[in-house]
Amino acid sequence: MELEQKLNLLNDLIVREIVNPLPPPYKVGVDLGTADIVLVVTDQEGIPVAGALKWASVVKDGLVVDYIGAIQIVRELKAKVERLLGSELFQAATAIPPGTVGRNAEACGHVVAGAGLELVTLVDEPVAAARALGINDGIVVDIGGGTTGIAVIEKGKITATFDEPTGGTHLSLVLAGSYKIPFEEAETIKKDFSRHREIMPVVRPVIEKMALIVKEVIKNYDQTLPVYVVGGTAYLTGFSEEFSRFLGKEVQVPIHPLLVTPLGIALFG
Ligand SMILES: Nc1ncnc2c1ncn2[C@@H]1O[C@H](COP(=O)(O)OP(=O)(O)OP(=O)(O)O)[C@@H](O)[C@H]1O
Ligand SMILES: [Mg+2]
Repeated sequence: MELEQKLNLLNDLIVREIVNPLPPPYKVGVDLGTADIVLVVTDQEGIPVAGALKWASVVKDGLVVDYIGAIQIVRELKAKVERLLGSELFQAATAIPPGTVGRNAEACGHVVAGAGLELVTLVDEPVAAARALGINDGIVVDIGGGTTGIAVIEKGKITATFDEPTGGTHLSLVLAGSYKIPFEEAETIKKDFSRHREIMPVVRPVIEKMALIVKEVIKNYDQTLPVYVVGGTAYLTGFSEEFSRFLGKEVQVPIHPLLVTPLGIALFG
């Protein structure tokens, strides 16, 4: 199954709260993000079986800030998917932004364990994205809520990873400031596709800033490598055009960019 088909299927499963009735054993991944927590179940071939997403702010830039809240949400998502599947989940993989070390990294594992899932592995987020994209050579840029993760992949190996503290949250902050509205309202407007054209002029400078950060980081690497942008921020209509323009290089944005990393994490599950 092609990536686009997998992402469309996964989105459908999450939105419609249904399952794809494939037989076990399953792989499970939990993405503890700044903006949302996503649980994905696939079969052994990586075909999506079920998924659940909850918008939440219990993690900030890879750091668990509300430990109990995070456990509760993962438990909720696990229970929901188990109910849909009619079977129990036992193990899961999760991911951390590159450079997260020590207790902060352990905390992510503890959240998954606390929710009753044995931790299989803790992967770097862009590594998970690259796995989902199925690429051997390329640069993966994951623009989530809190951070932008960058991974350089050459001959199937990760040769460099970076994590920059700019993400979708900053777009919402700029929007909130410009419209003089609360952050939550800005976040809602930003996720409304019918308002994307209207808000682009307000958020464009933030997209420019992100692209320039990425440009600075990747200038030291093979310029022929294709650049893939994933993460929820890339849902913005016109994002890939604007980002490409400021980066000075065409980028590829898969359909449902928010689901690429969660799907990739599940593939490690
Ligand atoms: N339809 C949409 N249009 C624009 N932005 C969107 C849309 N849907 C989600 N987003 C934004 O995507 C971001 C969340 O993306 P994602 O799930 O990749 O981040 P995360 O994994 O929670 O964060 P991080 O990886 O930084 O910890 C949020 O800032 C959210 O506002
Ligand atoms: Mg993320």
